[in-house]
Amino acid sequence: MPLEHAQALTASRLADLRARLAPLFAATTLPITLEIGSGHGHFLTAYAQAHPDRFCIGIDLIGDRLERSARKSTRAGLANIAWLHADVRLFLEALPAEIRLAEVFLLFSDPWPKRRHWKNRVLQPEFLSQLAERTGEGARLYFRTDHAPYFSHALNCVGEHAGWALAPDEPWPFELATVFQLRAEGHQSLIARRTCSIGQSH
Ligand SMILES: C[S@@+](CC[C@H](N)C(=O)[O-])C[C@H]1O[C@@H](n2cnc3c(N)ncnc32)[C@H](O)[C@@H]1O
Repeated sequence: MPLEHAQALTASRLADLRARLAPLFAATTLPITLEIGSGHGHFLTAYAQAHPDRFCIGIDLIGDRLERSARKSTRAGLANIAWLHADVRLFLEALPAEIRLAEVFLLFSDPWPKRRHWKNRVLQPEFLSQLAERTGEGARLYFRTDHAPYFSHALNCVGEHAGWALAPDEPWPFELATVFQLRAEGHQSLIARRTCSIGQSH
């Protein structure tokens, strides 16, 4: 695809996402919980049900998983949850400037085992920087995977990033097995706390 065409497509997707986000944030003043790659929606639906004091947003690239998720949350009668068909990087770019995320879950993110595909992993230093700009001090990132090399990569990225600090003594905040967790033989979890050493300090 020619570069100009690709740029025009990204700009139009960004405008569309901004238009979809504006009414969501206009309708809530609750702290915002984001789940990236929310898959079939089991985790976030249960989380939103247990936390009526949060507004939960699940995003994924796969439309029919989001449709199933929406059916679950509608059946549960939840008003504090929304599902978005979007790439997380575009979502973070489209967030209104004044919005700060309070907590972010990244559960069983695609591990991309082959070295030449590692660049496709969601958790990267650049992603942590982008996320740091859209979270306030004290925000939390919760990461869980069944892929040991991705876990080591995540530990290194967070450990070396000025905007985040590992919080090894904190308990996992909410247990509800996701679809991929149920298929896994085991998993490892990491909690990162947003520090105020880079970007904005609120
Ligand atoms: C391995 S599945 C895990 C789904 C769910 N978290 C679970 O544990 O059952 C990873 C999910 O992340 C989504 N995903 C991958 N990259 C993404 C991105 N850049 N933005 C949003 N979602 C993404 C995929 O579409 C997929 O549904």
